[in-house]
Amino acid sequence: MELQPPTNLIFAVNGERFELSHVDPSTTVLEFLRTRTRFKSVKLGCGEGGCGACVVLISKYDPVHDRVEDFTASSCLTLLCSIHGCSITTSEGIGNSKEGFHPIHERFAGFHASQCGFCTPGMCVSLFGALVNAEKTNCPEPPAGFSKVSVTEAEKAIAGNLCRCTGYRPIADVCKSFAVDVDMEDLGLNSFWRKGDSKDFKLSRLPQYDRNQTISRFPLFLKEIKHDVFLASEKHSWHRPISLMELQSLLQLNHANGTRIKVVVSNTGTGYYKDTGGYDKYIDLGGISELSKIRKDGTGVEIGAAVTITKAIEVLREESRIEFPSDYVIILEKIADHMNRIASGFVRNTASVGGNLVMAQKNNFPSDISVLLIAVDAMVHIMTGTQFEWLTLEEFLERPPIGMESVLLSIKIPSLELKKSESSEPRSRFLFETYRASPRPLGNALPYLSAAFLVSVSPCKDSGGIVVDTCRLSFGAYGSKHAIRAKKVEKFFSGKLLSVSILYDAVNLVRATIVPKDNTLKTSYRSSLAAGFIFQFFNPLINCPERIANSNGPSNLSFMTAFELTENQKQVHHDKIPTLLSSGEQFLDAGTEYQPIGEPIIKSGAALQASGEAVFVDDIPSPPNCLHGAYIYSTKPLANVRSIKLTPELKLDGVRDIISSKDIPKGGENVGSKTIFGVEPLFAEETARCVGDRLAFVVADTQKLADMAANSAVVDYDTENLEPPILSVEDAVERSSFFEVPSFLYPKHVGDISKGMAEADHKILSAEMNLESQYYFYMETQTALAVPDEDNCITVFSSSQCPEFLHSIVAKCLGIPENNVRVITRRVGGGFGGKAIKSIPVAASCALAAMKLKRPVRMYLNRKTDMIMAGGRHPMKITYSVGFRNDGKVTALDLQILVNAGIYVDISAVMPHNILCAFKKYDWGALSFDIKVCRTNHPSRSAMRGPGEVQGSFIAEAIIEHVAATLSMDVDCVRSINLHTYESLQLFYEHCHGEPDEYTLPSIWRKLAVSANYDHRTKMVQEFNRINTWKKRGISRVPVTVQLMQRPTPGKTSIFSDGSIVVEVGGIEIGQGLWTKVKQMAAYALSAIQCDGTEGLLEKIRVVQSDTVSMIQGGFTSGSTTSESSCEAVRLSCNILVERLKPLKERLQKEMGSIKWETLIVQAYMQAVNLSASSFYVPSNDSMSYLNYGAAVSEVEIDILTGETRFLQTDILYDCGQSLNPAVDLGQIEGAFVQGLGFFMLEEYETNLDGLVLQEGTFNYKIPSMDTIPKQFNVQILNSGHHQLRVLSSKASGEPPLLLAASIHCATRAAIKEARKQVLLWSNKDGADTTFQLRVPANMPVVKELCGFDIVERYLKWKMGRT
Ligand SMILES: Cc1cc2nc3c(=O)[nH]c(=O)nc-3n(C[C@H](O)[C@H](O)[C@H](O)COP(=O)(O)OP(=O)(O)OC[C@H]3O[C@@H](n4cnc5c(N)ncnc54)[C@H](O)[C@@H]3O)c2cc1C
Ligand code: FES
Ligand code: FES
Repeated sequence: MELQPPTNLIFAVNGERFELSHVDPSTTVLEFLRTRTRFKSVKLGCGEGGCGACVVLISKYDPVHDRVEDFTASSCLTLLCSIHGCSITTSEGIGNSKEGFHPIHERFAGFHASQCGFCTPGMCVSLFGALVNAEKTNCPEPPAGFSKVSVTEAEKAIAGNLCRCTGYRPIADVCKSFAVDVDMEDLGLNSFWRKGDSKDFKLSRLPQYDRNQTISRFPLFLKEIKHDVFLASEKHSWHRPISLMELQSLLQLNHANGTRIKVVVSNTGTGYYKDTGGYDKYIDLGGISELSKIRKDGTGVEIGAAVTITKAIEVLREESRIEFPSDYVIILEKIADHMNRIASGFVRNTASVGGNLVMAQKNNFPSDISVLLIAVDAMVHIMTGTQFEWLTLEEFLERPPIGMESVLLSIKIPSLELKKSESSEPRSRFLFETYRASPRPLGNALPYLSAAFLVSVSPCKDSGGIVVDTCRLSFGAYGSKHAIRAKKVEKFFSGKLLSVSILYDAVNLVRATIVPKDNTLKTSYRSSLAAGFIFQFFNPLINCPERIANSNGPSNLSFMTAFELTENQKQVHHDKIPTLLSSGEQFLDAGTEYQPIGEPIIKSGAALQASGEAVFVDDIPSPPNCLHGAYIYSTKPLANVRSIKLTPELKLDGVRDIISSKDIPKGGENVGSKTIFGVEPLFAEETARCVGDRLAFVVADTQKLADMAANSAVVDYDTENLEPPILSVEDAVERSSFFEVPSFLYPKHVGDISKGMAEADHKILSAEMNLESQYYFYMETQTALAVPDEDNCITVFSSSQCPEFLHSIVAKCLGIPENNVRVITRRVGGGFGGKAIKSIPVAASCALAAMKLKRPVRMYLNRKTDMIMAGGRHPMKITYSVGFRNDGKVTALDLQILVNAGIYVDISAVMPHNILCAFKKYDWGALSFDIKVCRTNHPSRSAMRGPGEVQGSFIAEAIIEHVAATLSMDVDCVRSINLHTYESLQLFYEHCHGEPDEYTLPSIWRKLAVSANYDHRTKMVQEFNRINTWKKRGISRVPVTVQLMQRPTPGKTSIFSDGSIVVEVGGIEIGQGLWTKVKQMAAYALSAIQCDGTEGLLEKIRVVQSDTVSMIQGGFTSGSTTSESSCEAVRLSCNILVERLKPLKERLQKEMGSIKWETLIVQAYMQAVNLSASSFYVPSNDSMSYLNYGAAVSEVEIDILTGETRFLQTDILYDCGQSLNPAVDLGQIEGAFVQGLGFFMLEEYETNLDGLVLQEGTFNYKIPSMDTIPKQFNVQILNSGHHQLRVLSSKASGEPPLLLAASIHCATRAAIKEARKQVLLWSNKDGADTTFQLRVPANMPVVKELCGFDIVERYLKWKMGRT
């Protein structure tokens, strides 16, 4: 074949033309945008299509139809070469600070929907994509200011985008606000209007949306570009053949000379199968028209292999309007609906159907599509060399993995007419259903199991029942090699009259057939799902009401009409489609005394965050000569490291050095971090002490190369002469491996435990429970940039919650004085405690490499490494003995806790204190405890939002639940009876209980019962449970008490000559709104000068990045109180300025009558008044520590066939004192609650026996998403009035609301109790099987296990006994 001459790659980004002649074909769009352009709004959150931080809009010209197609895509997976001729739009492209923000940006800001801002640009583009495409539909013209998009479509547009900060509710509001069918009353708190304003007023205040703004601006020059591109360099080439013949020659040619080829369509497969690259040739199948066509005729629908999943969905849905038989239409629609839950919109928009099936065939990928298509007997068209063949999908999957010479051309879903003619029964009908159990209802999560059933049934003339004529039952994605048909079960059903006993036998057969491979996780759960789905499908066909009523005699039920069956099928189907957040209400009651304090003003910089112009550490352009680092870490828990080698075959040109402990300079120390409790080395010396221990740091020309090199490292370990590692708390106890807890931090026992036990009517002795870890999942992983400077100085840009500590560690490590170091932190893309101590070694590594190599060095940790090293929340083992009276009042409690702290102490010595603080929310009578902080060979655990407090509060609830279950009492009564009186509060919280009127918990408890309608809803739940068999509900009310502590904090305010103001604080903006509150405080405090124009001061204030040279003693941003302490520090500095300005102001006022702020400042400059003031707020002993309260009611519904829990409603009442900014506090409450929901219900962060984390990214670590938050989410912020010792009477909101998510866990437990009661009834046993431990997280498998993996069999047995 003659090769065409190389062409250039041409495309546009935000209207700008790019033309490249040399591109490494493995370059992704994200990599290009972030490293070669100024467009940094695309963020790297996961690199595997699972988070949406990198979403861009791709616009492609279709010359045949002369139209532009616009679709969102994950730029982290899309290869740059594949966008030849396309236009890319990023968030800064839809609007920005220079040309004006887009209303999407402005509404994100105004609805308070951006906290750290790292996810926001991706969210904006996803929404923008939905608006662009809605405009192209034939829907009626919407009223001015609205899009044609519907509420559900708008919300679904961002269902695949993750946010770890906000809790999604405000983001949903932004989406809804554009929708034509929005109910304005449904939109929550925003800065545009107030509750009660009229609809017209509200509309007039929303940043106006002009539909012309969303017509994509496709640059004309791109229309002229030819779509075939061929790029070649010495090393690589990219081909885009346009015919099958061309493809054949390319494959043959390359097959012959052993070239390493990669066939690609959209490359999303590398999201799952991380591709190490190294191919010589890339062949893009996207240009071959045969592969992109869809044909439909009487024989069925044929879909080209390169057709995207989104396109396939569209076409399958279109079929409903043409002349196919109705059964077939429903089948196609259901296939489309199921496909709509594969990955997320921005993946489906590019991912091809053929790519999915080839991954299933070649790599055993857990494909949904193969399950669906096997059930309908789909055929595939394959080309191997020059041979073409049609075979069934089943045959295709069973073949050995296809080679490079084979290409899948198309897939055909045959029409039912063909099948019908096979059936001998003229009255037979086809029923079709698909099933999918996955952690997220709307998708963006691989399933535990998928199933699809195509069954032909006919009426039985004699019995009036239903006979199964034939069936195809397919299952997959459960840990099998590929999707399979359960042929034995199919055979068993064939020709059988459906009955309970037949179903029982079939279910048993399914269980024996659907057996996951040995190394699959949750095998019993997956098998039970298969049984559940078979039951769900066939039971309604037997179990008609008439039958149940007439169970003793033969049924007279006549066969349903075709119409009824179809309707019945539709009904089942629609019940399965999950709904999104419906709405939320917010009640904020803030004081007006200290304005603008108390105003819900917009978060500082929110619009910039939305447009993507806000600069995070990795957005700072690389200085010249910059190198990039990546860690080589231990994969053994305890081993000597003999040697480390990089794989030589990879030809890693551009790797500059491997830094290790040997590179610590003279005078420096091998120190990676330090707390008051101890030190952690930067690099392991001879011995690695945990999985994830840093062994070395590869430094290379690019981040990709550094990662590749680190990944290729071969470490030679030896464990000779080493004791076995300590991998459990039990091992730690046996070997007395503990960290010391300073006595001042160890809490005190309360009362006399023996006396308390003696007073008890009942005792539970030595009950045990375990709590696991949680990963931070900040959207921005750990990152730093170190730039060496003259005279042995260094500047480090770090995403850190504690730059002060980082500063001193860098100095110590490098052996230089602290005044040679400068650490700058502007903003942090989510911290949650994980960017405190854990950020330090990352910065220190970069600094060490930078000093050694005399070049700037930066690092952006990949998600997998971050997850392995992070440590996360502390796991623990709890043993308790509790004594209580008949009325539920606890009289004594003894608690033994073994905390797994990992290898280095970090902040773990505070755990006993923190656990106990939150645990003491109840009056336990007498309380004794022993809490040991165990040193184990796991990565050191660190602070994570509510460290220890979350566990303490939860343990308290678990004990209360246990007591209630033992007494068969209503657990809410047991909670109420054990709440503190003010007297007992004083006993348990000796130095921080506050005044009697500050103990607001009892009133919160009562008020919440009323506002959440608790009693009435409890009755409704009971009624629901009485009439529903397969769904059960639970409701629970939970209180929290948290002790908070303020720390010394600096502040500095400076006024420029034009009257603008700069404020510096020790606290770091991590998304929690600290800067916003600080701005409000500065405006309030400076306005005390009382001159004209001070009401506009807010606009003149800028809070600037933290710089450890400009402001020392910045401390930690943690413990929820940094905002208020920073505010207080700033207030003190402003007071100084006001005092300095006052005499001048009074003089000028006398002279001039009134004086403007700007004039005053000009005069002050002329009079040499010092207009910069620093302060250091040191809280007094009596004000340092205080208690905070809140309560939540949550209602959930569990599906006892799948274990899925839906969070129906949550109502929170939280005491914020007098909120400094209720919008910010509301965001903290909602965000913390949803993060807690993740901990209690969803997020598994497990390790293997060596301590290696099993969850390495978005595919298996599932944080809450838009579809897993409470459907109704109501939050009330209580203004509990005047608190003399607090900062302007305010109280913190950052962490305590996370504890409230335990209410969801408790409600789930209540629902499970109901399910278990029912199972007992089926076993003809009465009573309450209610004392069970509900694991955290109570995810689907856990819930299902407690309801019974064999619940279907039990039910059917019970039915058989009754019939
Ligand atoms: C975040 C995420 C979530 C996902 N969730 C799900 C899910 O829940 N359920 C599910 O079923 N799938 C899921 N997927 C898989 C997704 O459907 C596939 O990645 C996608 O369909 C592959 O299409 P592609 O065009 O990107 O293929 P590519 O990535 O380009 O190719 C994939 C593989 O197939 C080969 N290939 C592609 N087309 C052909 C062809 N025509 N002939 C021969 N070889 C070919 C390629 O060489 C490569 O080896 C998910 C993917 C991602 C990234
Ligand atoms: S970074 Fe691309 S989806 Fe997460
Ligand atoms: S605001 Fe969404 S991740 Fe921080």
